[in-house]
Amino acid sequence: MPRSGREEVLNWSRAYYARRASYYDLLAQRIGRDRETPRELEFLEFAFQTHATRKVREVLGIACGGGRHLVGLAQRGYRCTGRDLTPERIEAAKGRAARTRVSVNLEVGEATKVDYHEAFDAVLGLYILFLLPDDDAVKRCLNGVRKSLRSGGVFVCNIYNPFTLGKTWVVDAMRNRDSVEEQKAPGIRITEVQRTHDYDPVRGVVWVDETTVVEAHDGRHVFRDKGRARLLTYWDVEHYLKSAGFDEIECYPDWKVKRVKKPKAEQLVFVVRR
Ligand SMILES: C[S@@+](CC[C@H](N)C(=O)[O-])C[C@H]1O[C@@H](n2cnc3c(N)ncnc32)[C@H](O)[C@@H]1O
Repeated sequence: MPRSGREEVLNWSRAYYARRASYYDLLAQRIGRDRETPRELEFLEFAFQTHATRKVREVLGIACGGGRHLVGLAQRGYRCTGRDLTPERIEAAKGRAARTRVSVNLEVGEATKVDYHEAFDAVLGLYILFLLPDDDAVKRCLNGVRKSLRSGGVFVCNIYNPFTLGKTWVVDAMRNRDSVEEQKAPGIRITEVQRTHDYDPVRGVVWVDETTVVEAHDGRHVFRDKGRARLLTYWDVEHYLKSAGFDEIECYPDWKVKRVKKPKAEQLVFVVRR
């Protein structure tokens, strides 16, 4: 079974996102709008309005990637700050903000080193917890998030649910099945083939070898990367949040603001208040 240290996992992540940053950005521009972003933005505003007991004005995104949420929120009038481990993704986020003519503070920084003192009304930790290397990293991340929030402010985070009734890459990974995803728009096509190996059913960890073929204006590129993901459950996240001092925890399956009779629960979205 592969062993990997914290630094190794961070380096894999950084390399993975660095190589794809400009192509993801181009794809988003050519598609015109990201597939999932509009409903996620709707959900975030719902969470701010329903769960915060203070008016949300200033928002921090840890692991903000190419800035799709923060730029969307800035367009809606929020003052936004974003951090990400990968410098190339921060550059992409700056480009997105400039194209959209909004101002967002953006800096390179690790999710485990968030150190603001009660400076934000809301913090977003979206599509990141599964990439943090170990328990200690998640704890340091959530402690930093809590310190950064003003009283009455909210933290929103999500996970891919390993117990889902739907079909997701997590389910494929647990069955050691390959998954293929193709995304295309005029002038760009990205095909990602993920092969899981050495799924660890005890610790809920998967190692992924990913081959990505990018066909774009600058030719055809093949990237081969490694990654490691932790398959967190509802109970893990609840435990982490409680340990960090968040005790009122709301969970929404699949970003749905209304109760669904039988949610597939492919993703679980948590909203907690400080
Ligand atoms: C799946 S993407 C999600 C990006 C963004 N939150 C979104 O939803 O579009 C994960 C991002 O996390 C960043 N990342 C990975 N490990 C990180 C860490 N330890 N600290 C900060 N960012 C990290 C990567 O560079 C990448 O941009």
